[in-house]
Amino acid sequence: MKLEDCKDDIVKVVVTEEQIKTRLAEMGKRISEDYKDEDSLLLVGVLRGAIMVMADLSREISIPLHMDWMAVSSYGASTKTSGVVRILKDLDTDIAGMNVLIVEDIIDSGLTLDWLLQNLESRGAKSVKIATLLRKPEAAKVEVDVEYVGFDVPNEFVIGYGLDYAEDYRHLPFVGVLAPHVYGG
Ligand code: IMP
Ligand code: MG
Repeated sequence: MKLEDCKDDIVKVVVTEEQIKTRLAEMGKRISEDYKDEDSLLLVGVLRGAIMVMADLSREISIPLHMDWMAVSSYGASTKTSGVVRILKDLDTDIAGMNVLIVEDIIDSGLTLDWLLQNLESRGAKSVKIATLLRKPEAAKVEVDVEYVGFDVPNEFVIGYGLDYAEDYRHLPFVGVLAPHVYGG
């Protein structure tokens, strides 16, 4: 899907396809360097928003890695965080002793990642770190240590590149701000 296919629903583009590509390449290079002497790297993608980041970031990493997925409850069809985290799909991997890198689309309140970090650490992982494509300013208020951040974005509801509103717009190649008329704002 392209911008011209839904331009009435988008107020502005905040991160272009080109910017995402360039930034993920930089992040992948750093990750490859940081983990090159480790004996494991497991990327844990948070479904469903992180699918695009996982696909593109993992291909920029030049050292061996494994992938696994978790699904946790999120906004549903609303644009406000609930703060309630529930595991909808757990990992298939026993992460005891492994270096885990959580791959996320966006950190908003930080509640989801704060919870996920503690949950994965409690399973005996050797390390648990976070890579996110986007971060909203609110995230700074929560004590979540994020190792790799792609872009800081304004405190608006954004869609595209995996991020949805009521399951729409995930296949946009860029990140944009959703027009309030779409969600009745
Ligand atoms: P948090 O717990 O508030 O940090 O955010 C939890 C999840 O909500 C994120 O991983 C996203 O999947 C989703 N989310 C947060 N902000 C947005 C947004 O602006 N657009 C789409 N999804 C979002
Ligand atoms: Mg997410």
